[in-house]
Amino acid sequence: MTGKPQAMYSNSLFGRTVFRCTLCGGLIIEDGSRLGPRTMIHTANHIIDNVDAGIDGQGWIKKPVHIERDVGVTMGVIILPGVRIGKGSLIGAGSVVTKDIPPYSIAVGNPCKVIKSRK
Ligand SMILES: CC(C)(COP(=O)(O)OP(=O)(O)OC[C@H]1O[C@@H](n2cnc3c(N)ncnc32)[C@H](O)[C@@H]1OP(=O)(O)O)[C@@H](O)C(=O)NCCC(=O)NCCS
Repeated sequence: MTGKPQAMYSNSLFGRTVFRCTLCGGLIIEDGSRLGPRTMIHTANHIIDNVDAGIDGQGWIKKPVHIERDVGVTMGVIILPGVRIGKGSLIGAGSVVTKDIPPYSIAVGNPCKVIKSRK
């Protein structure tokens, strides 16, 4: 993949085996957020418009990921390109986050859905 990796982290904590991939789309992790072990974050999607060409040669669409402050991403979570996780949210183990999560949510599953609000 081409493109300069862009990532911005502040006062956040990363598990011992966090895998961060395809940073070229841009990644922001705000203060106090935590990424558990085996978290994966992608910030770009494959372009697949041309069915006569190989997927691999068509490039990527950049889609930044934004994790607001004080978010708890627990273990084994996958965060897909373009997602924003609102401040104070907790993402359950093994979740696949495909869409934005509102602030102060407890969200779980694949696809990740809000099951409770902390407020
Ligand atoms: C997200 C979490 C905190 C929710 O805990 P909780 O508020 O006590 O939720 P509950 O146990 O009451 O579960 C509520 C429902 O969500 C489901 N659920 C909870 N966690 C889930 C998960 N990770 N994935 C899918 N479903 C989940 C439960 O099965 C339950 O479903 P039901 O209503 O159909 O019975 C917890 O389940 C979790 O995932 N903790 C992660 C712990 C962890 O990874 N720690 C290491 C961090 S590095």
